Amino acid sequence: MSVSLSDSCFLNIGICGYGTVGRGTHDLIVKNENTIARRLGDVRLKVTHIASRGLREGVSGVNKWSIDPIEVVNDPEVDILVETIGGLDAAFEVVKKALLVGKDVVTANKALIATHGNELLNLASKNGVRLLFESAVAGGIPILKSLREGLAANNINWLAGIINGTGNYILTEMGNRQRLFSDVLREAQKLGYAEADPSFDIEGTDAAHKLAIMASIAFGMPLAFNKTYIEGISSLELDDIKYASELGYCIKHLGIARLSERCVQMRVHPALVSLDELLASVDGVGNAVVVHADPVGSTLYSGPGAGAGATASAVVADLIDLARSPKPISHAHKVPSLGFSKLMTDYEILNITGIESEYYLRINVDDHVGVMANITSLLEKSGISIDAVIQKEKSNNCVQIVILTHICIERVLNSAIAEIESLESVRNPVVRIRVASFES
Ligand code: HSE
Repeated sequence: MSVSLSDSCFLNIGICGYGTVGRGTHDLIVKNENTIARRLGDVRLKVTHIASRGLREGVSGVNKWSIDPIEVVNDPEVDILVETIGGLDAAFEVVKKALLVGKDVVTANKALIATHGNELLNLASKNGVRLLFESAVAGGIPILKSLREGLAANNINWLAGIINGTGNYILTEMGNRQRLFSDVLREAQKLGYAEADPSFDIEGTDAAHKLAIMASIAFGMPLAFNKTYIEGISSLELDDIKYASELGYCIKHLGIARLSERCVQMRVHPALVSLDELLASVDGVGNAVVVHADPVGSTLYSGPGAGAGATASAVVADLIDLARSPKPISHAHKVPSLGFSKLMTDYEILNITGIESEYYLRINVDDHVGVMANITSLLEKSGISIDAVIQKEKSNNCVQIVILTHICIERVLNSAIAEIESLESVRNPVVRIRVASFES
């Protein structure tokens, strides 16, 4: 089948921000022009205006360049604005203005959606335009479309995922090659995986942005990034990765959202993942999300979570969606951005101390008679049952005791840990890592 150019009408795209994702989006529209045209029928995508402070060398076929992205917003020939500036302030201004002047917007900006999404989506709805953001979560994996559309008939119970490629790359290299955290982070920055501020990756903010967006669509609740519990991976040590492996686990940085009764858990933290689980085999910059829903059961989505091609794939998919349903949008045919047309529920968010989990503990102690008995009796006193114990000799008369607990409430475990840390023979703060559960 061939597409005749003469029969086509053009949908003009303005791109604000011409870094990795902006340029990747433009390249993809050009490279896969024919495939996109065959999918779209009579409409063709054309990049007509780019706002960038950087170099324009090697870019052809674009009529207009601006330094100020507001010029793209105000360009009457631009039908859809792509926001790939990143960050919060400038991006917020550009997207808000574009929605106000009646332009559809596609953004890859997870921080923007997680932080200002409620306001921006309201604004889009009031102005009869769309704000799409598939590329904001898990790069090339169409996870938002799956949650919103593919699983629309289900009650989603929980989802858990590896949603930061940089963090997963670091943990994979530490686990497989025993490399130091700081060395691998430097490499991830060089490879272009990390955020402009890599603390967003390693301290869990980036994953929390993505988790808040997924949870909102999965459960039908307003975006609640500021209520997400966040713990990063920067304090993980090689010893813990090694001992976890001896116990049959790897350590992954997970985003977990769970709906139970009228209460939602949203948490990002390192977790022991059993080597039998599919998520355990997701290595490098790969992302993966397991969704457990009723009646479908567990489904797994995996693929590249970062990089120009993967992110552009999702940006252009959103552009194709917009091109397929031109304005004015019929309400009956509109897929709601957060998945639910009405009855969004402001669920209570469970405090992290209220969760129930199994735990990995590492306790550095002086090698004295009775120290193990003291620790286990403190756990027993709190009603915390032990699943496994290993003891490792270290230098300087120091021994490492590694304990896996059965399920207990985090608040109860925290009190027991405080008592353990007050024992004279216990040296450093106790290391505590949650164990991920993938049961319904
Ligand atoms: N820094 C992010 C990551 C990029 O490593 O996953 C994609 O959101």
